[in-house]
Amino acid sequence: MAPSLTDLLGRRITYLRLSVTERCDFRCHYCIAEDQAFAPKSRVLSIEELGQVADAFLDLGVTDIRLTGGEPLTRKGLPALLEHLGQRRAAGRLKALTLTTNGGMLEGFVPLLAAAGVGRVNVSLDTVDDGLFSRITRRGDLSAVLSGISAARAAGLGIKLNCVVQKGVNDSPHHIDRLMEFAAARGHDLTFIEVMPIGPAAFDFHRHYRPMDDLKAELARRWTLLPDAHRTPGPSRYWRCVETGGRIGFIAATSACFCAGCNRVRVASDGMLYPCLGQDHAVDLRGPLRSAEPDALKGAIARAIGLKPDGHRFHGGATPGRAMNATGG
Ligand code: GTP
Ligand code: 5AD
Ligand code: SF4
Repeated sequence: MAPSLTDLLGRRITYLRLSVTERCDFRCHYCIAEDQAFAPKSRVLSIEELGQVADAFLDLGVTDIRLTGGEPLTRKGLPALLEHLGQRRAAGRLKALTLTTNGGMLEGFVPLLAAAGVGRVNVSLDTVDDGLFSRITRRGDLSAVLSGISAARAAGLGIKLNCVVQKGVNDSPHHIDRLMEFAAARGHDLTFIEVMPIGPAAFDFHRHYRPMDDLKAELARRWTLLPDAHRTPGPSRYWRCVETGGRIGFIAATSACFCAGCNRVRVASDGMLYPCLGQDHAVDLRGPLRSAEPDALKGAIARAIGLKPDGHRFHGGATPGRAMNATGG
């Protein structure tokens, strides 16, 4: 029988979100503080070690890997990791290799991503308004992101746009509708995401939190939305907008409890395995990875899966101490 990772609640873990760096060239105000301190390089897994972690998960039955950050494309040596994972893709050991990016450096990476067999990229795009984009990301350049999206599209990569909906910031009909029209005109899926009380977003959470039910009800007054059966390994639920022809998804990351069907864990670039996005409990893989014992890493992963909590505690007001850039959402 093929190996598999199953937690104590019977949830099969088939999806690894591997954060290759906590660094980012943007400073989205809900994600990273302007003067964010980063872990010293000595604590960060090497590219080779990241490849070993990925291989251990593949041996244990994981089929999907999403590279995240921080901004994964800022990680030095990423091409070598892409090549390593590309070989696993080509050999059929890895079913899906995907990437979540802010898009700022995407254009230059498209050929490498395509060569590695990356099928889909998720690009953060909270607005297509230039001024607002600059205010939200503080260091981002909208035109570079749009060029990256166009290049990925031209290369045939699947694209999903991620919009973190922030009340009073980017949730006006004007901003939301422009984004919907932009995505639909180019054939990209667009997901709206609830702010989660993690990192800087935890401080003024209630000021910016807009539940997805509320946004969807508002959209349904302007647009005709029909349920769509499209599914990805992620928690988004999709709808087809009749007027734009586009597909939009909603990730009720805070208000909903899709934890019962959770299929993923996260490994941060310092080798900490986080069994749940919404909790701080973590298991250090660096020691086992660097030990002489051949099965130490797989043993540590299997034990960590056994400790996976039933879900986040956002409703109860519990917020993790780490910022979102550590595990890439
Ligand atoms: P696909 O559906 O596979 O394309 O990916 P995704 O939408 O799950 O991943 P992406 O990296 O684009 O993340 C979109 C948003 O979903 C981010 O805000 C993530 O933090 C959030 N998200 C992803 N997985 C989980 C999860 O297990 N729990 C919660 N609460 N949020 C999640
Ligand atoms: N709440 C919800 N989503 C967030 N992201 C970053 N921080 C938060 C937060 N506090 C999003 C990014 C990116 C995705 C990986 O996670 O915008 O699209
Ligand atoms: Fe960087 Fe993404 Fe965080 Fe923005 S949300 S600062 S792009 S890691």
